[in-house]
Amino acid sequence: MIFQIGVVVYGAPPTATGYRRHEQRIMQSMIRLGLSYGDEITGVRKVPLQSAWLFCDECGRKLPIDSDAYRCPSCSGMLQIGYDYSNVRRTVGRTLLQSRSKFSMWRYQELLPVTSDNIVSLGEGFTPLVQADRLGESLGIGQLFLKLEYTCPTGSFKDRGSSLLLSKAREVKANTVAIDSSGNAAASLAAYSAKAGIPCYVFAPSYASIGKLTQAIANEAKVVKVEGTRKDTFEAAKMAIAKYGWYYCAFQVNPFASEGSKTIGYEVCEQTGWQPPDYLVFPVGTGSGLIGCWKGLKESRELGLVDRLPAMVCVQPEGCSPIARAFKQGKEIAPFEKAQTIAEGLMISQPLKGKHVLSALTESHGLAETVSDEEILSAAKLLAKFEGVFVEPSSAAAVAGLIKLVTSGKIDRDQKIACILTGSGLKTLETYSGAFPEPLTIKPTQNEIDKIATKN
Ligand SMILES: Cc1ncc(COP(=O)(O)O)c(C=O)c1O
Ligand SMILES: [Zn+2]
Repeated sequence: MIFQIGVVVYGAPPTATGYRRHEQRIMQSMIRLGLSYGDEITGVRKVPLQSAWLFCDECGRKLPIDSDAYRCPSCSGMLQIGYDYSNVRRTVGRTLLQSRSKFSMWRYQELLPVTSDNIVSLGEGFTPLVQADRLGESLGIGQLFLKLEYTCPTGSFKDRGSSLLLSKAREVKANTVAIDSSGNAAASLAAYSAKAGIPCYVFAPSYASIGKLTQAIANEAKVVKVEGTRKDTFEAAKMAIAKYGWYYCAFQVNPFASEGSKTIGYEVCEQTGWQPPDYLVFPVGTGSGLIGCWKGLKESRELGLVDRLPAMVCVQPEGCSPIARAFKQGKEIAPFEKAQTIAEGLMISQPLKGKHVLSALTESHGLAETVSDEEILSAAKLLAKFEGVFVEPSSAAAVAGLIKLVTSGKIDRDQKIACILTGSGLKTLETYSGAFPEPLTIKPTQNEIDKIATKN
């Protein structure tokens, strides 16, 4: 049943604490009524935030969730987001989620810590999870699934993070957002900034191809190329942010980015009737996608939605595989020298959250694999040929890694497996030039048509 209630918070006390107490009272009444704070509730001036907070990875310092910090003010450590799950568990369950009519990541709003009137959305998430019968058959895998993340509004899974980042930017009343990136994250952030009406600066390395930046420029982001290395680009962004106070939205750093990706985990659980696959295969660069998804999966278990979790699989290109290399060698992550691969999105030689990826792999009894550019191209072709799925090399890497892992016997072919296909092939047409055959040219005659119609 869908409840429509109108709660308007009149006369809220003017102080922040008073306001929060006011919210808590409403929240408690809603719990008593058995209602949730999701999309079924309309007319609410401000949806109460469930108990959530930020905490530092390194020193443990706790900050209120509505803080605009993206790194620990004490030690510059990475921040994470914590929740009082017992509170959420009281309202969120399988039946409630399945009754929802919102088919986007905001279906899981109770675990996305921004208030509903700040949400900036283009309908991202709840992407198809399709069974890949033909590809599965060709590989001898009985239960192979593909999560079509490239169907997100800007063509990549980054939209989940951007939607939450811009919602958060609105909440902290950011006047400008900024990112250092040359790829999908920049395009995605620019689109959501346009939707939110918040100016956006993109700092890109000078070698970034204009193709990748066009989407961001079209959204009227201020795209600036920075001379020097990728690190110089990061430093330039850092200087600008320090001086002008812009809200920094780098996916490697801002905890709200991977908090968006965690909805992939909930979706995989819900879309498989709460029987998630045995393996989830991710292409990994910074690791924000895999880390987020693993958090979403753990939360699904915490909330009693599922009782068993998949093993996470991290796939990286041979030309830049600091995390997979460390996992395989049982060593700490070291920067990857002279990174080079056609999988541009995975070319992160010093992943700041690499150790979180390693923890996810260890906790989930997962695996890591590396793949060559040739293996990536070949996987991209198989996906297109057997499944009608055209993805960029950074996505195809997941399938290339899976092929290697089943061939070497590290993953059994009778397991239920899902590959996360993160970005559209339309983004990297130039990388594919020469990879596929040229079309035949014919004269418009019956004879020539007969020739092509009978040719295999
Ligand atoms: C298409 C695509 N796949 C995968 C990745 C890697 O994601 P992450 O950096 O979250 O590991 C990226 C990163 O930009 C990407 O663009
Ligand atoms: Zn700290």
